[in-house]
Amino acid sequence: MSGHESLIEALRVLEIQALEAVSAATDPDALEALRIHFLGRKEGQISGILRGLGSLSPQERPAVGAEANRVKERVQGALEERKAALEAEGGEGTADFDLSLPGSVGWRGGRHPVTQVIDELWSIFRSMGFTRARGPEVETDWYNFVALNTPLDHPAVDEADTLYLKNGLLLRTHTSPVQIRTMETHEPPIRIIAPGMVYRRDTPDSSHTPGFLQLEGLVVDEGITFIDFKATLAEFARRFWGPGTQVRFRPSFFPFTEPSAEVDVKRVITRPDGTTEETDWVEIMGAGMVDPAVLDNVGYDSERYTGFAFGMGPARIAALKYGIRDIRCFFENDIRFLNQFAQP
Ligand code: PHE
Repeated sequence: MSGHESLIEALRVLEIQALEAVSAATDPDALEALRIHFLGRKEGQISGILRGLGSLSPQERPAVGAEANRVKERVQGALEERKAALEAEGGEGTADFDLSLPGSVGWRGGRHPVTQVIDELWSIFRSMGFTRARGPEVETDWYNFVALNTPLDHPAVDEADTLYLKNGLLLRTHTSPVQIRTMETHEPPIRIIAPGMVYRRDTPDSSHTPGFLQLEGLVVDEGITFIDFKATLAEFARRFWGPGTQVRFRPSFFPFTEPSAEVDVKRVITRPDGTTEETDWVEIMGAGMVDPAVLDNVGYDSERYTGFAFGMGPARIAALKYGIRDIRCFFENDIRFLNQFAQP
């Protein structure tokens, strides 16, 4: 065998070895090692043979060179094909995945449980002809107290209860100033609810937070009587808590209503087994007939107009509705708590 024939023979042996090794390889690292072993510039077997070309006569060289290139291309092609086949099978680390596991589902926002209660309260009052009003959280003595027939020596005005700001301003302690602001800018008939934040100098515990939501209601028109007052609030209570709900008006006192009442409900709850149970009486709001002095303060004719007002705490109502014993849960924003109220 002449020199060039033995080189061509050696190339064909390498070709067969390389193709066998490539088809047996099971991962990309093994393929890379084979590429270096057969095609590498320095130590590659095929490159080694090409280096031997120098010992051949110029007539013999082209045939060997052409064969070397053919083998190189064939091995190169086999490496690429095998690599693609391995990737299609699942590639590197196939064993790390359990394809039967469920996919991860992205976070989905939901309305806060107290917001859901406010929306429910709003839809009931809207169906009874109420509209929504609002007022500022920073107020003056006039709107928060004086116009509401609360003299400045009343205990509620005390710094122990009220958060004062500079320049005679304060954080409203209830939503009742929205009554005044609404009546100042609108003529009767008035039928509004006003949800919003209020602030009191309170130490947080299971039933108090220094800031909380209230929902104010006000109705003023000619001929509004105590019957309208009781019937409207009883109807609201039955729509919110269910038709079997009993409603009780307990005499109370607020400077801006006369007479005043605290409204209690006794609910019927259905246990998981379908049987029912009556709850104890629980207070759900403060309310009363608007004091004529308040109507006078906004320039209404208190001989002609009468009305009623009420105020409730949506977080308290949400706590009752969902059986939550500590209202701080509503402020901590623990996602495990909030997720229980997620709506589909
Ligand atoms: N503003 C009263 C409170 O915060 C509630 C209330 C509103 C009472 C309207 C009567 C009428 O306690």
